Amino acid sequence: MSRRRMVYEGKAKILYEGPEPGTYIQYFKDDATAFNAEKHEIIDGKGVLNNRISEHIMGALNGIGVPTHFIRRVNMREQLIRACEIIPLEVVVRNVAAGSLAKRLGIDEGDALPRPIVEYYYKDDKLGDPMVSEEHILAFNWANQQDLDDMVALALRVNDFLSGLFLGVGIKLVDFKIELGRIWEGDFQRIIIADEISPDSCRLWDVDSGKKFDKDVFRRDLGNLVDAYAEVAKRLGILPESGGAVVAGPKLVKASKKEKGS
Ligand code: TMP
Repeated sequence: MSRRRMVYEGKAKILYEGPEPGTYIQYFKDDATAFNAEKHEIIDGKGVLNNRISEHIMGALNGIGVPTHFIRRVNMREQLIRACEIIPLEVVVRNVAAGSLAKRLGIDEGDALPRPIVEYYYKDDKLGDPMVSEEHILAFNWANQQDLDDMVALALRVNDFLSGLFLGVGIKLVDFKIELGRIWEGDFQRIIIADEISPDSCRLWDVDSGKKFDKDVFRRDLGNLVDAYAEVAKRLGILPESGGAVVAGPKLVKASKKEKGS
């Protein structure tokens, strides 16, 4: 049997060649990094939880007609995805002031923003993913105006959908980051959502207590990261209420009188 070919290794995931042309297998590692990988730890169980949560969210987005790269989960740590050409931008949508926005503009963390704010960051680890404007994106041809319009429309639809999804389970969607990619269908190019949507790439606060259920728990040493992500999974109905196994075991079926024998 030949070994499968690795296409790319990032900080939290690995891409392998998929079973058919135009597909990849996306593997979720247990690595947690922050501050451009200055802080790094292996956190047992993180990859499994992000695989499940991203599956749940991307599957739901596909279901409402927001195109994503997600095809199906294949096991605890891997999902089958459509290959696409990644646009070298991170698109951040913010509903509430937090993180770098709060710091840069001197706004208190937790202040509601007057409207959702969309920001772009140029994906380049060597430069520490600097914030860029539409002018930079167009001038350096990272995306054209049509791409940008599509990206913003998708980002805002994701924001609307996810805000509602999380609010329904008592979680406030403070902000999130998405990555987008291009696919070609005949002569037409389409932009789809790629990478992952998980507590690694969102800020998620408990509506009642303000408790954080996202990667800030790791960035700011606030407690156990897996417990926080498992809480998100539980509330979304992905994990059983009691926690424990990520995949529910087989259900015992009561044998009927007939099967019990004569
Ligand atoms: P920020 O406030 O640090 O700029 O982060 C904004 C959102 O983007 C937050 O939900 C976390 C997410 N994010 C990533 O997914 N990857 C990153 O590298 C950074 C810096 C932020």
